[in-house]
Amino acid sequence: MILVTGGAGFIGANFVLDWLHGCDEPVVNLDRLTYAGNPDNLAPLAGDARHVFVHGDICDRALVEDLLARHRPRAIVHFAAESHVDRSIHGPAEFVRTNVDGTFTLLEAARAYHAALDGTGKAAFRFLHVSTDEVFGSLSPTDPPFSEDTPYAPNSPYSASKAASDHLVRAWHHTYGLPVLTGNCSNNYGPLQFPEKLIPLMIANALAGKPLPVYGDGRQVRDWLYVGDHCTALRRVLEAGRPGETYNIGGWNEKANIDVVHTLCALLDELKPTDRSYKDLIAFVTDRPGHDRRYAIDARKIERELGWRPAETFETGLRKTVQWYLDHQDWVRNVQSGAYQQWISENYGQRQGSPA
Ligand code: NAD
Ligand code: DAU
Repeated sequence: MILVTGGAGFIGANFVLDWLHGCDEPVVNLDRLTYAGNPDNLAPLAGDARHVFVHGDICDRALVEDLLARHRPRAIVHFAAESHVDRSIHGPAEFVRTNVDGTFTLLEAARAYHAALDGTGKAAFRFLHVSTDEVFGSLSPTDPPFSEDTPYAPNSPYSASKAASDHLVRAWHHTYGLPVLTGNCSNNYGPLQFPEKLIPLMIANALAGKPLPVYGDGRQVRDWLYVGDHCTALRRVLEAGRPGETYNIGGWNEKANIDVVHTLCALLDELKPTDRSYKDLIAFVTDRPGHDRRYAIDARKIERELGWRPAETFETGLRKTVQWYLDHQDWVRNVQSGAYQQWISENYGQRQGSPA
């Protein structure tokens, strides 16, 4: 079996669902159920003995050790994190706690567990760390995309905490021989993404007739990957990646934010028409402090070494995503609880805005 952390969040839940759709190897899923963790994401697995959900914290060393001793996983796939850049600007402490201390705790527990395995178990064991392209910092319009050799230059509290966790993972391999793998992925989108991130926030606001808040000039570039493609990449890295290596994962889909928002509006105009275009709701608002201008991933290594390529284009993936949100309005309403409203007023309440 495998131990997954953060498997009630956006990418983790997609990963667990895809995993158990494709094979019968059981999953122990450790998640603290923060605002971003949602048991509803795992509803299709209710009553499925292959999925063991554990409500707990990756910073709880005794709990992690107990799970490793009881379930004897052959791998740990580590998604659990605080993941939203804007929240890291408002409150960085939780990011250091979960992303740095939590990863440290997992690594220490994994090191002790790995050391006690027999030869075959030792050789098979893997610690797969799920990380981000944001650790590489910001690109100018003419820079080549991030490769695995690009120096780290994190700019936000979030990316700094993820960079710290990547460094710990690297060191636990170099010093202790823990068989680690790291994936540095670009922006994901798809079903089950919490509506604080650009794409689901824009869809939710548009359907509610609320402004679509574009930060700054909207010309910042992100490299978008459909979440299902990230999950296949991670499975492939787990299966055939070389311990100690890092793999950049991306979809060769660089888009300016304003273009993404226009595409979303056009899709909504087609799939859920109203008497005016959703584009009328676009509003430019005060920029994010320290906003990285451009991310782009050079995904040639994972293609060359592991034969992975994304299956979705941005067009097919975005259409599926918009349709999913249209079909799951209850899911959106359920996560827009009191705490969500509080975040929306904290993050957007003080931004100056002007209509597009
Ligand atoms: P998310 O915020 O949707 O989910 C995070 C999950 O981790 C939640 O279920 C939450 O309850 C859980 N969690 C948080 N703190 C925990 C703790 N202390 N102990 C146990 N569980 C805890 O995040 P996501 O977007 O699914 O991202 C998953 C991982 O992928 C993160 O490590 C993130 O840095 C990385 N990543 C995300 C993206 C993206 O575009 N979303 C891209 C590249 C990498
Ligand atoms: O690059 C990978 C990273 O992508 C992941 O590591 C992070 O976990 C994930 O949150 C994401 O970070 P971003 O900051 O790029 O994603 P976000 O969806 O918050 O923002 C995408 C872009 O859209 C960014 O340039 C900021 C902008 N934006 C975002 C929001 C929420 C807006 O213009 N308006 C908004 O309201």
